[in-house]
Amino acid sequence: MIRKRLGELSMSEVKAKTPHGEMTIDQIAEIQPGMAAIMKEVGDRFTQTYYAAKGGNWKLAAYHLNQLRSAFRTAKMTRPKFADDLTAFDKDYLLPIFKAIHDQDWKAFEAEFKKGETGSDVYHDKRGYPHIRYVLPKEPPSNLYLGPPEGFKRGPGHEASG
Ligand code: HEM
Repeated sequence: MIRKRLGELSMSEVKAKTPHGEMTIDQIAEIQPGMAAIMKEVGDRFTQTYYAAKGGNWKLAAYHLNQLRSAFRTAKMTRPKFADDLTAFDKDYLLPIFKAIHDQDWKAFEAEFKKGETGSDVYHDKRGYPHIRYVLPKEPPSNLYLGPPEGFKRGPGHEASG
């Protein structure tokens, strides 16, 4: 039998094998995260960014914001119809927050973060989700130490004291 060359195979014929079974490339693409899953990550990272900055752990704040921006990049690939909005939000709201983190300027950070909150309302409205409103949790939900890294010590029971 003459085997088809890879270029002649349709993507749904190309299969990946695991010990559990086979999946076509199309099926693998289908299960990549969509907006609901990605936005859960975005909301969580936004909160973590806030509390890390508030605690004075600016490197951790930058880390969380970078993860948020990386989630945006994934969304642009898996849901391209949102790409322009995500790019605009990144430029208009996330980069100014990033700058405040870089400058370690809490006042500027708080002001830009608030703009980001209302900015997310604008985009949720635009996309038909007026019932979705990001709100900052009252308590930091982090299981990561939020103070300046040099202030971190483990107590005898492994609790953190800073
Ligand atoms: C920092 C900015 C943003 C935050 C914190 C945020 C947060 C959220 C949260 C928490 C959800 C609900 C997720 C869930 O629990 O199921 C959501 C949904 C959603 N967001 Fe955002 N969002 C932001 C920016 C944006 C932007 C710029 C867009 C523009 C495309 C957008 C589009 C959406 C859409 C379409 C949904 C509904 C997803 C679905 O159910 O399919 N968001 N967002």
